[in-house]
Amino acid sequence: MHHQQPITQKLHFQSTPIVIKKELIYALSFLVIMISSLIILNLTGPLKPQSFFHFGFLSQILPNNQEPASSGVCDYSFGRWVREEGYMLRSYNENCPFLDPGFQCQQNGRRDVEYLNWRWQPDGCNLPRFNASDLLERSRGGRIVFAGDSIGRNQWESLICILAQAISNKSAIYEENGSPITKHKGFLSMRFHDYNLTIEYYRAPFLSRVGHPPPDLSIEVQRTIRVDELHWYSKNWLGADVLIFNTGHWWNEYKTVKMGNYFQEGEKVNMTMDVSEAFRRSLQAWKWWVIKSLEPEKSHVFFRSYSPAHYRQNGTWNLGGVCDGDMEPETNYTKLEGDPLSNQFISDVIKQMEYGTVKVQFVNITYLTELRKDGHPSLHREAGTPVDAPQDCSHWCLPGVPDTWNQLIYAHLLSMGFRTNSK
Ligand SMILES: *[C@@H]1O[C@H](CO)[C@@H](O)[C@H](O)[C@H]1NC(C)=O
Ligand SMILES: *[C@@H]1O[C@H](CO)[C@@H](O)[C@H](O)[C@H]1NC(C)=O
Ligand SMILES: *[C@@H]1O[C@H](CO)[C@@H](O)[C@H](O)[C@H]1NC(C)=O
Ligand SMILES: *[C@@H]1O[C@H](CO)[C@@H](O)[C@H](O)[C@H]1NC(C)=O
Ligand SMILES: *[C@@H]1O[C@H](CO)[C@@H](O)[C@H](O)[C@H]1NC(C)=O
Ligand SMILES: *[C@@H]1O[C@H](CO)[C@@H](O)[C@H](O)[C@H]1NC(C)=O
Ligand SMILES: *[C@@H]1O[C@H](CO)[C@@H](O)[C@H](O)[C@H]1NC(C)=O
Repeated sequence: MHHQQPITQKLHFQSTPIVIKKELIYALSFLVIMISSLIILNLTGPLKPQSFFHFGFLSQILPNNQEPASSGVCDYSFGRWVREEGYMLRSYNENCPFLDPGFQCQQNGRRDVEYLNWRWQPDGCNLPRFNASDLLERSRGGRIVFAGDSIGRNQWESLICILAQAISNKSAIYEENGSPITKHKGFLSMRFHDYNLTIEYYRAPFLSRVGHPPPDLSIEVQRTIRVDELHWYSKNWLGADVLIFNTGHWWNEYKTVKMGNYFQEGEKVNMTMDVSEAFRRSLQAWKWWVIKSLEPEKSHVFFRSYSPAHYRQNGTWNLGGVCDGDMEPETNYTKLEGDPLSNQFISDVIKQMEYGTVKVQFVNITYLTELRKDGHPSLHREAGTPVDAPQDCSHWCLPGVPDTWNQLIYAHLLSMGFRTNSK
């Protein structure tokens, strides 16, 4: 799955031109303010590029998006990567038996190792150290569910390998149905026998149900995406203690209408609904499912934000785009892309849920991930990949960046006081 583009600002331009004009005016007036304050700052001291970029995220200063620093909880989303020799190998290495070959970059020929030497340092607070035995103990008798696209599987494998480090008998960790860990399976469930814990992955790239269209539609409609219903796997998510959702990479024109996948609501297929509207509606369906189907005392719900791809050189993913020359995190902050619109949609929906009883958290990993153009498999793809296949600048080498996403989830679980009731 490499054809990934977020719902970008471009889409935003197409769907809401009036808003954009307003934003442009804000942006321009902001630019003037920023340039003048830069001149002042330059007189008083050197500029940190990070703070420059932080200001550059317009959403943060637009009047309609102003938010209070939420309830004293640390904001892990912003900070910097600090070089620390071998940091990412402290937990596990590529010999972890639960990694799929697509993520084992060294075994696929990657020789540079600098990408393993970075630790995420949030601004203004520290991430708690990941204690695998502690999370296993807290999760005893429970279920942790990942649902989303293949980047979600990337994160699922990362968590399994992190937790497996705390267990010496690796045979006591196994796939419940004996399935091999590969991208070809839509559902995988790893059992940690000693803890009576399962960590499950469900492939549901849109989170929504995808199916056959109603009869008598034109031939161009090959499948429909039910924006008002979750994937049929969702019945298996009931009763989970921790649910980690993600989606976004498939919500673009290429993966939907251009491939004959149209949007359906009830019995009606809407041939003109645009992707960002469909995405927004699907998130409403997700929200209602969470509210109506999960037990608020039991479930801890996370929605991970968009994981940026890095086809920045030599074209887009399908036109020879590459990232194999990237061996260090981005240092040129003007090259960073803004926050994708899909993040805003997700964060809005989660804000709508804050008044309810469900424990739900938006995990914003986009900025920290955006900086890590060096973390992808690039041309070190699994054996058997055709030589002329595009580079993989979407998924992540493991150990690698998704370990940090899981570190954030762990931090949130600790602050929620997460613990299953089993002993
Ligand atoms: C995600 O985090 C980045 C970095 O802090 C921030 O600029 C961006 O606005 C956040 N996105 C959302 C939707 O909150
Ligand atoms: C990790 O958690 C385990 C189990 O709760 C505890 O016994 C141990 O002291 C913790 N280790 C550290 C370094 O905090
Ligand atoms: C394992 O956990 C399940 C709940 O997920 C529980 O019903 C079952 O009794 C537990 N089994 C053991 C052996 O503790
Ligand atoms: C390791 O775990 C497996 C599966 O639970 C079990 O059959 C085996 O006896 C265990 N080995 C040791 C040395 O505990
Ligand atoms: C299709 O969806 C669009 C929103 O994108 C809406 O404005 C339009 O009314 C819908 N058409 C029908 C026939 O429901
Ligand atoms: C750049 O893309 C072109 C096709 O658009 C391809 O022929 C060429 O090999 C690519 N260059 C690199 C360095 O990958
Ligand atoms: C940073 O990136 C911008 C945009 O790609 C480019 O114009 C500029 O020359 C770069 N700066 C450095 C120091 O490489």
